[in-house]
Amino acid sequence: MTAKKRTALVTGSAGFIGYHVAARLLAEGFKVVGFDGMTDYYDVTLKQRRHQMLSQSPNFTPIEGLLETDGLVMGIMSDHKPDVVIHLAAQAGVRWSIENPRAYVDANLIGAFNVLEAVRAYPCEHLLMASTSSIYGANTVMPYEETHKVDTQMSFYAATKKANEAMAHSYSHLYDMPVTMFRFFTVYGPWGRPDMALFKFTKAILEGTSIDVYNHGDMSRDFTYIDDLVEGIRLLVDTPPERSEGKVEDGDSLSPVAAWRAVNIGNGEPVQLMAFIEAIEAATGHEAKKNFMDMQPGDVPATWAEADLLKRLTGYQPKTDMRTGVARFVEWYRDYYQV
Ligand SMILES: NC(=O)c1ccc[n+]([C@@H]2O[C@H](COP(=O)([O-])OP(=O)(O)OC[C@H]3O[C@@H](n4cnc5c(N)ncnc54)[C@H](O)[C@@H]3O)[C@@H](O)[C@H]2O)c1
Repeated sequence: MTAKKRTALVTGSAGFIGYHVAARLLAEGFKVVGFDGMTDYYDVTLKQRRHQMLSQSPNFTPIEGLLETDGLVMGIMSDHKPDVVIHLAAQAGVRWSIENPRAYVDANLIGAFNVLEAVRAYPCEHLLMASTSSIYGANTVMPYEETHKVDTQMSFYAATKKANEAMAHSYSHLYDMPVTMFRFFTVYGPWGRPDMALFKFTKAILEGTSIDVYNHGDMSRDFTYIDDLVEGIRLLVDTPPERSEGKVEDGDSLSPVAAWRAVNIGNGEPVQLMAFIEAIEAATGHEAKKNFMDMQPGDVPATWAEADLLKRLTGYQPKTDMRTGVARFVEWYRDYYQV
């Protein structure tokens, strides 16, 4: 008798990270239900292409709809009864949240609530949800550890993710749901997001237009290559938190009262913005025209992940160096846009 295939619901499956996560699970023999609203925050063609590629697998079921539509996620849970739920759909982006905060209320607050309610009604082994490094906000003690206090978000985007962590904690506690919150650190790689620096810089450099370099280049980010991120997510899927009964090890973010944990997924190695730009210049073979600007509101000058908890839990630590990852992105970009 063959073992029953495990089913995963991946929300945001037409998005950058969701696409890669869904592809990885399909390759391993999972059935994947991919839910996405195909929102026009960035080029919808990119999202459609990602779903088309996933749809080549007979084990992939695409469903289009908005998270905030009442009863929709509930219906999907009822129809498919997934073993795991990986909730990645969201309105992402720090800068857009200054101009259009309501989109974040709809997708990130009401949307996450609908996911929690659906998992409460149709319990699964493990709910994993995307949070962000932006949640560390004005914290200056680096590297950022999951056990640090996170009360000073600098953007409404980060505030909605902080709310998601608290909402999920309460559901986990009340309804015995194992929940892992991922705190992602600037993810990049092929099929990446057009609103993020690597995409924008590569496009501008290849088109010969100038790039905006914020805080006059004095910024650093802990960059995470997509394949490393997917590996971390995959290992965490099979590492659901268990209620601690009050005993929590040092450095573990496990809740003292619930099967809830937040985990950084980052390289543990911050990269200076100017070094990042140099890597794109090297990969494209062109020098960037740089337009030095002040810091953008809502942004933070630096991020740096403590990657030890992920390693303790899964034995894994992201490892792709930035120059290698950037070169892979530029190769994908040139091939995809034929430039
Ligand atoms: N990429 C990063 O560096 C990064 C860093 C930290 C956190 N995150 C988080 O990771 C998750 C995935 O990010 P990504 O980079 O793949 O972004 P993405 O924008 O490429 O993917 C998100 C997907 O969610 C869908 N979506 C948005 N609003 C929706 C709604 N209301 N209903 C249904 N679908 C909706 C979009 O169509 C999109 O395909 C997000 O939760 C994001 O906040 C990403």
